[in-house]
Amino acid sequence: MNQSKSSTYSIAQLGNAVLRQKAAEVQNILADECQKIISQMMLAVSEAGGVGIAAPQIHHSVRIFIMCSKPNTRYPDAPLMAPTAIINPEILHYSSDKVKGWEGCLSVPSMRGLVPRHSQIDVRYFDQQGNEQKKELTGFIARIFQHELDHLNGLTFIDQLESTKDLISEFEWYQQFA
Ligand code: NI
Repeated sequence: MNQSKSSTYSIAQLGNAVLRQKAAEVQNILADECQKIISQMMLAVSEAGGVGIAAPQIHHSVRIFIMCSKPNTRYPDAPLMAPTAIINPEILHYSSDKVKGWEGCLSVPSMRGLVPRHSQIDVRYFDQQGNEQKKELTGFIARIFQHELDHLNGLTFIDQLESTKDLISEFEWYQQFA
C-alpha cells in the first residue's frame, strides 16, 4: 500500500538509511520506551493494512517486529493471527526447502516480489511480557517472520529475489493474482 493519506506514522521508505542498519537488541522489554514502540507499531501496521511491520520501518533501530496476519485487500489469502509482538527474534533451524511466494512491504510501495523463503522454521523470541517463546512456524506465518527478521538485519524482500524478473508492480499483481 502506498503512503496512506491520513497515516499517523511515517513509514521509512526504501533508500532511508534506517532500513539498512542492523537493529540493536532490546535490553529491557518491560521498559516504557519499548512498550511505547510496540504500541506505535501495532497502530502503524493496522492503519497501513500490513501483515507485519518492523521497528526500523517506523524509525526505531531496535529488534522488534509485529506479526498480524489476517486476510485483507493487500493479502486476501493470509491466515488469521492475533497481532503479536516479537522481540529479539532468532531462527534456530531452517527447513532445507524454499518456496516462492508473493511479498510486498510498506517500505517498498507499489511493488510485489516473488520471494523464496524456507517453508518451515524453528524460532525463539521474547513476547511483549518478556517471556521466552519457542515455536515452529510454517507457510505464510514463517514467510512473514523471515521477511520481518530481515528488516532487523538491514535487508528488504528485494534483496532476497532470485531475479529482478520476480519483481512486478502492485497494479499488475492485482490484475493477475488478486
Ligand atoms: Ni517489509
